[in-house]
Amino acid sequence: MIEKNTPTQFDINNLVENRWSPRTFASTPISETQVKTLLEAGRWAPSSSNMQPWRIIWGIKGTQMYDRIFNCLDDFNRGWAGNAQVLWINAFKKTMNDSDKENFHALHDLGLFMGNVCSQAQHMGLAVHQMAGVQHKKAHQEFRFTDDYHVATAVAFGYYGGDVSDLPEDLRKEETKKERERKTQDEFAFNGNFNSNKQ
Ligand SMILES: Cc1cc2nc3c(=O)[nH]c(=O)nc-3n(C[C@H](O)[C@H](O)[C@H](O)COP(=O)(O)O)c2cc1C
Repeated sequence: MIEKNTPTQFDINNLVENRWSPRTFASTPISETQVKTLLEAGRWAPSSSNMQPWRIIWGIKGTQMYDRIFNCLDDFNRGWAGNAQVLWINAFKKTMNDSDKENFHALHDLGLFMGNVCSQAQHMGLAVHQMAGVQHKKAHQEFRFTDDYHVATAVAFGYYGGDVSDLPEDLRKEETKKERERKTQDEFAFNGNFNSNKQ
């Protein structure tokens, strides 16, 4: 099993600390009930005016739905995402529930939805790998979204595991890299004006 080191500056909870985004997954299947459990965690995310703008299309490996989602990924992500046991597409409603006015916070809310899903997945021992690399227009048409929806991202799920030999050669080094990296808090958080930490 690939081990990662997360050099936290402060102690944080294990679900957040130990999550990472693999491109290999164990061959253990994920059941429909498990998918619905992940969706349920997302369902209880907060959202602006409780509009819940997220919309999810999902499929389990070995089904037509999985293949339809896979075929909407970009070339790069099709190089590894077939290792996943579940694929899904994230879309959001661009407009308010009760008018055609734009919901500026819909993407924020979809992010919160996915935050809940990531923590729930980690709790279940499942890994999550989110993808911006989707053929957005193709997915929009393929799954019959109407004009007031935007296809945002795709997601791969599976138990942590698998083998780096499941990956194209150029992705193997990153997969096994031990040290995880982040900006320091000083680079993004200010107890003062924007960028006030700069000397
Ligand atoms: C919205 C979003 C889009 C992403 N798009 C891709 C993608 O298209 N392909 C990919 O391999 N990884 C993608 N990632 C994974 C990120 O590269 C990864 O989360 C980041 O490098 C941090 O690594 P960690 O999740 O292992 O901590 C995406 C992640 C997010 C949240």
